[in-house]
Amino acid sequence: MSDDTPPAKSTSTRLSRLRNWLSLSGAVLSFSAFFAFVLLFAVDLMAAHANPYMGILAYVVAPMFLLLGLAMVIAGYILETRRVRKGLADDDSHLILHVNLARKRDRRLLVGFVGGSLGFIFLTAFGSYETYHLMETNSFCGETCHTPMEPEYKAYQHSAHANVDCVACHIGPGTTAYIRTKINGVKQMYHEVMGDFDRPIKIRNPNLRLAQETCQTCHWSQKHIGDVHKTFKHFLSDEANTPFTVQMILKVGGSDPVKGPVQGIHSHMNVSNKIEFIHTDEDRLSIPWVRVTDSNGKVTEYRTEEFKDDISKHEIRNMDCMDCHNRPSHKFLSPNAAVDQSMANGRIDPSIPWAKKNVVKALVQNYATREEAQQKIEASLRADYPNEKRVDSLIAEAKAIYKVNFFPEMKADWRAHPDYIGHKDSNGCFRCHDGKHLASDGKTSIKGSDCNACHIIVSQGAGKELEKYAPAGVPFIHIDSEFSDPSCADCHNGQAQAE
Ligand code: HEC
Ligand code: HEC
Ligand code: HEC
Ligand code: HEC
Ligand code: HEC
Ligand code: HEC
Repeated sequence: MSDDTPPAKSTSTRLSRLRNWLSLSGAVLSFSAFFAFVLLFAVDLMAAHANPYMGILAYVVAPMFLLLGLAMVIAGYILETRRVRKGLADDDSHLILHVNLARKRDRRLLVGFVGGSLGFIFLTAFGSYETYHLMETNSFCGETCHTPMEPEYKAYQHSAHANVDCVACHIGPGTTAYIRTKINGVKQMYHEVMGDFDRPIKIRNPNLRLAQETCQTCHWSQKHIGDVHKTFKHFLSDEANTPFTVQMILKVGGSDPVKGPVQGIHSHMNVSNKIEFIHTDEDRLSIPWVRVTDSNGKVTEYRTEEFKDDISKHEIRNMDCMDCHNRPSHKFLSPNAAVDQSMANGRIDPSIPWAKKNVVKALVQNYATREEAQQKIEASLRADYPNEKRVDSLIAEAKAIYKVNFFPEMKADWRAHPDYIGHKDSNGCFRCHDGKHLASDGKTSIKGSDCNACHIIVSQGAGKELEKYAPAGVPFIHIDSEFSDPSCADCHNGQAQAE
C-alpha cells in the first residue's frame, strides 16, 4: 500500500463506492443473467426432451454475462477508489450517483434507471426463452450447425420422418440422458467453432439413445405388419439401359399373436425371442457371435468359425430396431440406386444410350469438394455426349443427385453410412444370416439363411415377364442367371466400384 492511502473508511463508505453507474449496470446485468439462467433451467427441466444446446445458453452464455456483470461491479468499485485516492473527493459528494430525491433531475434519473433495468431483465428472459425455442427446432439442428449437420438434414427432409423432430430420436428422456446431452451440446459447439469435428460424424452405441426411448415412443414392437409388397426398379449399365425390376413380398410379420402368427422379420423384437450379439467394430458390421433366447427360455448360441474369443471379453448388445433400421431418416443412396430412381421417375431419360453407366461413372469419382464435383461431373458427361441434345438435363439431374447424396466435405455418403435394412449394398441382414454362424454342433446355422426366408420374389425382369406372377416365389435371376449366394455386398458395396 502506498503512503497516500486515504484514512481507513468505514465499511459503509467503502460500499458507497459501489454507487456508480458502471457498478450498478453491472449489478443489473448479473441479476438478469442469473434470472435467465434460473428460467432456462426450469423450462428445460420441464421440457419433454432435454435440449443439447440449451446447456450452452444456461451454462456458458448466461454465466458469461453474470461474470461480465460482476466484473463491471468490481471495475466500477476500483475506478471509484482510484478517484478517491487521487483526492478528487474524499466524501460522498463526488459520487456520480449521489441521488437526491428532492431533486427533480435525480428523481427522473432514478425512475429511468429502474425502469430501464426492469425492461432489460424482461428482455433477457424473453430473449433467452425465444432462443431456447429456436434451439429446439429442426432447422436449428440441421441448418445452424451448417457444415457438420447438412448431410443428415438433407436426407432427413425426404425421409418418412421428415415431420419427426430431430430431438425425438436423438435425445431420450431421463436424468442421465439430460446430463449427457448437455455435455455433448457444449462439446459439439466447441468442435463446430474449432472446425475439428469428425468427418464423417458417427453416432454409435452408446451415444445413440435406445430404441425403447426413441422409436418405441411412436412405434411399438408388437405391431403386426404382415407381408409388405416391394418393387425395386433397376436399369442395367448397358447401351439400352435395359430395365430390370424385382417385385417381392417381404415377410415382415409381427409380434402380436392376436393379429397373426409371431414370425417373420419382426420376430427379432425381443418380445418372444430375445436376440443378443457381439460386434467387433464400431459400425457393427462384423458380428461374430449371436445368442437367441426363445419364449420357452431355450438358449442357442451361434458363432463364426474364426471367432474363438471368450465372450466375457466383449460387450453384449441387445438387438433393437436400429440394428436393422439404422438409417430411418438419413438414407444416402448409392449412385447406382440414385440413378435407378431418377430413371424410374423419368428424370433421366432411359433412351439416352449408356446413360446409367455414364452418370454412375461421373458420380462415383472421388471429389474433394462439392464445387469440384459439380464441375467434373459436367465435364465428364459433356465428354461422353458431344452431340447429345439432352445432355444439359442429364447434367442437371446428375448434379442434383450428387447434392443430396454426397457430401465430400463431411466424407458422408452411402459407403460411410451404409443402410443395413437389406443385403445388397452392405451386408445388412447377412451380418448374421450368411449361413456361416454356427451353433455348438458346428452344423446348424441361424435359421432363415436361404433366399426365401425373408422374402419371396414374385416377378422379375421387364415388360411382359413382370406380368408372370409367381405366388410361391421364383429363384432370383441375377442379370441373366440364377444366383443364390450371400455375397452381394462384395460386389455391390461400392468399394470396388463394380456396381
Ligand atoms: C427417426 C429417427 C431420427 C430422426 C427424426 C433424426 N435422426 Fe439423426 N440419426 C438417427 C439414427 C438411428 C442415427 C444413427 C445411424 C447409424 O447408426 O448409422 C442417426 C444419425 C445421425 C447423425 C450421425 C451421422 C450419421 O449420418 O449417421 C447425425 C449428425 C444426425 N443423425 C443428425 C440429425 C438431425 C440434424 C436431425 C433433424 C434434422 C435428425 N438427425 C433426425 C435417427 C434419427
Ligand atoms: C415422433 C414419432 C416417431 C418416432 C420417434 C419414430 N418414428 Fe418412425 N415413423 C413415424 C411416423 C409418423 C411414420 C409414418 C410416416 C408416413 O408414412 O407418413 C414412421 C415411419 C417409419 C417407418 C416406415 C418407413 C418408410 O420408409 O416407409 C420405419 C421403418 C420407422 N418409422 C422406423 C423408426 C425407427 C427405427 C425409429 C427410431 C430410430 C423411429 N421410427 C422413430 C413416427 C415416428
Ligand atoms: C431384423 C431387422 C429388423 C428389426 C430388428 C426391426 N425391423 Fe422394422 N422392418 C424390417 C424390414 C426388413 C422391414 C420391411 C420394409 C423395408 O424393407 O424397408 C421393416 C418394416 C418396418 C416398418 C414399415 C412397415 C411398412 O408398412 O412398410 C416399420 C414401421 C418398422 N419396420 C418399424 C420397426 C420398429 C419400430 C422396430 C423396433 C421395435 C423394428 N422395425 C425392428 C426389419 C427390421
Ligand atoms: C444380429 C444378428 C442378426 C441380424 C443383423 C439379423 N438377424 Fe434375423 N435372426 C437372427 C437370429 C439369431 C434369428 C433366430 C434364428 C434362430 O432361432 O435360429 C433370426 C431370425 C430371423 C427370421 C426368422 C427366421 C425363421 O425361419 O424363423 C427372419 C425372417 C429374419 N431373421 C430376417 C432378418 C432380416 C430381414 C434381417 C435384416 C434386415 C435380419 N434378420 C438381420 C439374427 C439376426
Ligand atoms: C435374412 C433375410 C434375407 C435373406 C436370407 C435374403 N434376403 Fe434378399 N432381401 C432382404 C430384405 C430385407 C430386402 C429388402 C431391402 C430393402 O427394403 O431395401 C431384400 C432385398 C432383396 C433383393 C432386392 C434388392 C434390390 O435392390 O433390388 C433381391 C434381389 C434379393 N433380396 C435377393 C436375395 C437372394 C438371392 C437371397 C439368397 C441369397 C436373399 N435375398 C436372401 C432380406 C433377405
Ligand atoms: C460377382 C459380383 C456380384 C455379386 C456377388 C452380386 N452382384 Fe448383383 N450385379 C453385379 C453386376 C456386375 C451387375 C450388373 C450391373 C449393371 O449392369 O448395372 C449386377 C446387377 C444387379 C442388379 C440389377 C441392376 C443393378 O445395378 O442394381 C441387382 C438387383 C443385383 N445385382 C442384386 C444382387 C443381389 C441381391 C446379390 C446377392 C444375392 C448380387 N447382386 C450379387 C455384380 C454382382
